[in-house]
Amino acid sequence: MTEKRLLRYNRLAHGLLSLAVVAGFLAALCVVAQAWLLSVVVNRVFILRQTLTDVLPFLFVLLPLAVLRALFVWSGDVLAQRAASRLKGSLRQDLTHHLFALGPAYTRGEHSGELVNAVVEGVEVLDEYFTAYQTARLLARLAPLLIFVVVLVLDPLTTLVLLFTGPLLVLLLALIGSSVKDIAQRRFQELSWMSAYFLDMLQGLATLKLFGRSREKIETIRAISTRYGSTTLEVLRTAFQTALVLEWGSTIATALVAVEIGLRLISGDIVFDRALAVLILTPEFFLPLRQLALKYHAGAAGRAAAERVFTILDTAPAPVGGTQPAQGRGYDHPRRAPVTRSDIRFERVSFAYDNGQRPALRDFSLHIPHGQKIALVGATGAGKTTVANLLLRFIEPNGGSITIAGIPLSEIDPATWRSQVAWVPQRPHLFYGTFADNLRLAKPQATQAEVVAAAKAAHAHEFIQHLARGYDTPIGEQGARLSGGQQQRLAIARAFLKDAPFLILDEATSHLDAESEGLIQDALDRLLRGRTALIIAHRLKLIYTADQVVVVQAGHAVQAGTHRSLLEQGGVYQQLVASYEGGGR
Ligand SMILES: Nc1ncnc2c1ncn2[C@@H]1O[C@H](COP(=O)(O)OP(=O)(O)OP(=O)(O)O)[C@@H](O)[C@H]1O
Ligand SMILES: [Mg+2]
Repeated sequence: MTEKRLLRYNRLAHGLLSLAVVAGFLAALCVVAQAWLLSVVVNRVFILRQTLTDVLPFLFVLLPLAVLRALFVWSGDVLAQRAASRLKGSLRQDLTHHLFALGPAYTRGEHSGELVNAVVEGVEVLDEYFTAYQTARLLARLAPLLIFVVVLVLDPLTTLVLLFTGPLLVLLLALIGSSVKDIAQRRFQELSWMSAYFLDMLQGLATLKLFGRSREKIETIRAISTRYGSTTLEVLRTAFQTALVLEWGSTIATALVAVEIGLRLISGDIVFDRALAVLILTPEFFLPLRQLALKYHAGAAGRAAAERVFTILDTAPAPVGGTQPAQGRGYDHPRRAPVTRSDIRFERVSFAYDNGQRPALRDFSLHIPHGQKIALVGATGAGKTTVANLLLRFIEPNGGSITIAGIPLSEIDPATWRSQVAWVPQRPHLFYGTFADNLRLAKPQATQAEVVAAAKAAHAHEFIQHLARGYDTPIGEQGARLSGGQQQRLAIARAFLKDAPFLILDEATSHLDAESEGLIQDALDRLLRGRTALIIAHRLKLIYTADQVVVVQAGHAVQAGTHRSLLEQGGVYQQLVASYEGGGR
């Protein structure tokens, strides 16, 4: 099943692989011709006592035949390699596309290290699977058949031996092979765990050191890699066993043929040149099977990896349901014209993470009129970021509807919509690259002057200009060398650069020093000016800026109004404000 799907996955790869097998088959044809010519020459020289000049024409053909055979073998290898590269390329591309379609809600729920392992190592394993295993497998079906037919013509009696021993060896291979599959699967799984665990450890290095847990983690990594090592040895052992059994089997079978032919030669039942040709051809009959045995573990490893890859590809993007129209794969949508007014409405929207297992929003309604700033406040885990995720279409609602200027959000092309939205996320992500690269993410064609202007507006210019290489200074992975406040200012600079009419601001919960706090507040005030905005606020100052405040509690909008009117109402809001003030914000 997986095997068929993999073979058909990329048509060009399949075509190239077929050509590689054809080349292998032609090489086998050359072998047959060589065997025949050789037996003729030996027969003429040793039995018929002919001279060199008599056999010279045959020798002349033998030489180019050998060259031709080498050429076929070589081109077979090249074609198989090309096929593998094609397949790997298209799989990686599709996986990337699909992960984009699945969105952050999916990737966050998975072990990143495990996903990386599937996409990088899992796809790489398919190289050997294609070049070594698949060509050997397909060739093992064709080449022996050709030799069998030739032997049948030369000496029908010998075919009886081949007919008996050939299938026996195939059966042996299948018997040993069944255990190879389980081991290969286990090995791939262990490698995935190791990657996931290692990445997790790297990301949490500071925390682990703080709690003095480094030693235990190192111990666990050691345990996993020991297990992986022993599984690898197990794979090697079975690979060796398979190869050995096949080697022995084919040697015994060849010896059987030799004895049978020898006896018949003595009794004069068979002529010399035929006997010799059959003797030369018999090992060639078993050769493809022996080669298949050698590559058998590559086949099992490839299948294990492919199963994981296909599981990711088969995960449907974003659960859809409720009153929203179903939407295929999530990336093709009819409406590509930008919406002119950012008048946003949530009508009784529900959403649950983990395939409906973890409810985050229920019957949530919200109206963001064009040009207004709406603040969402609520306890941690109330569902505020989920509202932003829905608006950005990282996830699709399970029920209810979201409309922009009366148009269902699901009918607007996601790329078009996102181009109109600037987003300052709760935890901004900075990529490995320079400051300029990271800012240009928001607008790739931005000039240096525009980048600097955005950084100035976000108060990021101050610290960037003090760096040795300014905007060309590399940022470590995930902004490792920056403080929380600096990261946030870069995220705000991105929003300035994007200059979109609608803004989603998911404020970070972390405490900042007074200076950062002031700078960020000033930058945000300017960013909010003249835009429609959804502000997820954790600080009072931002709440004061809002035209309306909506209180979220356990996925439900419980109160709405201006700061003043809500304070008068009392209830949840009053408690929240008290806690904000208590927290010094
Ligand atoms: N990717 C996810 N997978 C599974 N559950 C999630 C995911 N993201 C959030 N949740 C859950 O959904 C609920 C709402 O989370 P959400 O992030 O919207 O809260 P929030 O109001 O933004 O909280 P905070 O103020 O801490 O940022 C929480 O119970 C959370 O555990
Ligand atoms: Mg949040």
